[in-house]
Amino acid sequence: MDFFDLVQKRRSVRKFSTEKVPDKVILKSLQSALLAANSSNLQPWEFYWVKDKHKKNKLIEACFSQNAAKTAQELIVSVSRIDTWRRNKNLLIENYKQEGKLLPIIDNYYNKVIPYSYYHDMFGIAGIFKRCVSFFTAIAGFFRPVPRGPISKQDLFEIVTKTTALACQNFMMGIVAQGYDSCPMEGFDENRVKKILDLNKNTHVVMVLGVGKADPKGVYGDRFRIDEDLVIKII
Ligand SMILES: Cc1cc2nc3c(=O)[nH]c(=O)nc-3n(C[C@H](O)[C@H](O)[C@H](O)COP(=O)(O)O)c2cc1C
Repeated sequence: MDFFDLVQKRRSVRKFSTEKVPDKVILKSLQSALLAANSSNLQPWEFYWVKDKHKKNKLIEACFSQNAAKTAQELIVSVSRIDTWRRNKNLLIENYKQEGKLLPIIDNYYNKVIPYSYYHDMFGIAGIFKRCVSFFTAIAGFFRPVPRGPISKQDLFEIVTKTTALACQNFMMGIVAQGYDSCPMEGFDENRVKKILDLNKNTHVVMVLGVGKADPKGVYGDRFRIDEDLVIKII
């Protein structure tokens, strides 16, 4: 199927049939998720494929027992993290070194710009410091374009969550490309999901993804999109 047919075919399925999904379908889609475009190639995501029966039941409950979760054959939780940047940038640098491609500009970016942007502490002191610096940067901003963030922990979460959502879309496209269906969910109790997965405060649960084969009545109604003139602006 061509890409545009797949885009049309992907629907959010709220009721899945009892047909099993082969592990390789999930794995291939997860591998596609990892190829998503992501900020500074820092890959701040994690995907928890919940196979343990007890944990899966708890997860369904945490998703308010909504149909898409209850009937899904497989459940995957996508998580964004603001605490893996250091490990990942070191891995990136290592790779550049091995390939003999660690240019000074790359070294500077990953060893100075990224630590400045991503460093945070539990008391928010780094945030206060960055806010002071940003005050002076904003003055320069009257005369030229300047970087205006990230400043707060919330800004960091926005960056990593944006990127993780792109990976989720790749995952769903991978699922539909292999003849299966999915439903992204943000209807869940995040505290409970984090507890099930044993996640710390530096994480955000982005979506829970239900996967299966659509039941004949699994898609609720025709697709509706608002008029494109309202949202596509050609300026
Ligand atoms: C971030 C996000 C969260 C969503 N949360 C839920 C959810 O909790 N439950 C649900 O049934 N559908 C959920 N959806 C599915 C949307 O309702 C669905 O994508 C939208 O209605 C458009 O329909 P389509 O995906 O079939 O094109 C979510 C979608 C996204 C992207």
